Amino acid sequence: MKRIWEHDKIAYGGDYNPEQWPEEVWQEDMRLFKKAHIDIVTLNVFSWAALQPSEDEYNFEKLDKIIKLAGDNGLKICLATGTGAHPAWMARKHPEILRTDSQGRKHKFGGRENSCPNSEVYRIYSVRLAEKLAERYGDDPAVIAWHISNEYSGECYCENCAAAFRRWLRKRYKNIDEVNKAWDSAFWGHTFYDFEDIVVPNELSEHFYLFGKERTTFQGISIDYRRFNSESIEECCKLEYDAIRKYVKDTPITTNMMGFYYPLDYHKWAENLDFVSWDSYPGPDEPDGHIALSHELIRGLKRDMPFCLMEQTPSVTNWHAYNKLKRPGDMRRLSYQAVAHGSDSVMFFQMRRSTGACEKYHGAVIDHAGREDTRVFREITELGEELVKIGDKTLGTLQKPKVAVVFDWENWWGISYSAGPSILIDYHEEAYRYYNAFYKRHIPCDIIGTEDSLDRYDIVVAPILYMVKEGYDEKIREFVKNGGSFVTTYFSGYVGDSDLVYGAYPGKLKDILGIWVEESDALPEGEENSFIYNGKQMPARVLCDIIRPEGAEVLARYDKDFYKGEAVITKNSFGKGKAYYMGSCSDEEFYDSFIGDIAAEKGIKGIMDSQEEFDMLDITRRYSEEKAYTFIINHREDGRSAVLDMDGTDILSGKAYKKGERITLKHNEVYILESMI
Ligand code: GLA
Ligand code: ZN
Repeated sequence: MKRIWEHDKIAYGGDYNPEQWPEEVWQEDMRLFKKAHIDIVTLNVFSWAALQPSEDEYNFEKLDKIIKLAGDNGLKICLATGTGAHPAWMARKHPEILRTDSQGRKHKFGGRENSCPNSEVYRIYSVRLAEKLAERYGDDPAVIAWHISNEYSGECYCENCAAAFRRWLRKRYKNIDEVNKAWDSAFWGHTFYDFEDIVVPNELSEHFYLFGKERTTFQGISIDYRRFNSESIEECCKLEYDAIRKYVKDTPITTNMMGFYYPLDYHKWAENLDFVSWDSYPGPDEPDGHIALSHELIRGLKRDMPFCLMEQTPSVTNWHAYNKLKRPGDMRRLSYQAVAHGSDSVMFFQMRRSTGACEKYHGAVIDHAGREDTRVFREITELGEELVKIGDKTLGTLQKPKVAVVFDWENWWGISYSAGPSILIDYHEEAYRYYNAFYKRHIPCDIIGTEDSLDRYDIVVAPILYMVKEGYDEKIREFVKNGGSFVTTYFSGYVGDSDLVYGAYPGKLKDILGIWVEESDALPEGEENSFIYNGKQMPARVLCDIIRPEGAEVLARYDKDFYKGEAVITKNSFGKGKAYYMGSCSDEEFYDSFIGDIAAEKGIKGIMDSQEEFDMLDITRRYSEEKAYTFIINHREDGRSAVLDMDGTDILSGKAYKKGERITLKHNEVYILESMI
């Protein structure tokens, strides 16, 4: 049990930017917040320009007022450092802080997250601001969390970064021969004689676009640049973290993340944050399992504590092509889904709509009409009342998954930069295919990185484990030897940390899996092979590995083409465990069946497994020391029912239920059943 911050209920509120509107409005905001049971505001997210109007001038007068106003009104504060967008004078005076993009274009002032992470000027000023804020507000009892910058993102290819990259490479490889080896630079005669020969890999050097995707002639340098860029930006975050810590002893510090965000290796980032928070903006038609996967990813970044849902829209976004409204009840359901999957907060972007600029039509708790008799405000108020009722019951509670799906950023970069075998290979979607099969069975599942230990799991699935980093095969070997079930797929085990091929595929995983892969057939969209699994014909898509078993048992064989009769799925006994290899990509029905079999073999059951219906509801369970909280949510349009596997009381309605009782949930309905363990 570990709470994310000092608060006695699920935190309810979000981004509040009162500096953007007249003070007369502030009192009305406070009145409306109280009405809606809002208890936390994230302040100061984009106030750098106001706080530091010139090189050595700081002005905290307005922020003092805002912080006092929030505190006096009983609101908790998540205080941002405001460094997500630098002031205009800084860009004019020190153009080196501006980023350069992948096409080598030096940016002008504008946008946000437009500061070069390796600019000394940016680092000095951002750290100084964080320090001044921490010194000034660190002891304010209303401030329960610090929020560094805002949605760190992107990449920079400027001269600061090029020089820093060369320093980074010297540290990593010591000498230029090692670099040449790691990147196989003898290919096309790109041998480097000196670190000074190395330039950033972008569209002016090794990168180009093919079929709409960013490609590179040398994966080694490009993956290293991804590592370097993620670390450079993280370094900025760490520097601000340390600056805050100079004055703030315990208040936890975070930065808001974006889920499956390709440029930043959040597993590494999370190590240096006190808790993890993220902004969830699912598309209107995004399947609930897909949204759940993002929550699990974030929860998995710090497996032993809840996370914070820092932002979601209460009603509508402004940046989709068609900004469809969340239907009545959707906001509540999606809020509870975040809590069900591990959040200890329900927070919004934004509290009040601004009058100008690109987010003025983005949903808010208080919209332009400024009225409380709106559907959105009513729904927010109703949810606010419920969260007050729930109180601190679920805070700090954790799931206890026996299953993990591995998702690794370096592997993601390796897969995405790979020229061949197919542009249809999609790491995130493949992870979803496997995760979703567990989700539909209500089998709790952690999403973990390669740094995480596998000790607590019975089943580990590593979809498309293309890059097997130094030592990771040994971790898997130990896991399987000790009795674990391991599952991996096509395009796995090919390369090491530098994208150099190990030899016969799947490289270092061959002994564990008891196979080798001779060839792989990439099928264009619409073409497929097939195989029989559990008596049913299933499609084989995207990539068809032609597998040579060496000790593994064959579970299914291709139905056609010149590799008809060759293995597509294998299972190997290794030590006390089993290692499965799925040599192709199939459909939902297959994953349901395949994962069902593997779970059954390990005796892993879903929560409330007695359902005769399958794929009905989103069911999760969070535990305190003595109690369990079972969340049952119906995301579907029609009614669904579930049979309870314990006695429990719904903390939303106060009604008690008996084990074996059937409850029926209408669309959007939510139960949170409290029971003794
Ligand atoms: C992100 C940002 C916010 C805002 C919202 C709009 O999450 O952090 O500042 O731009 O998107 O959806
Ligand atoms: Zn730069």
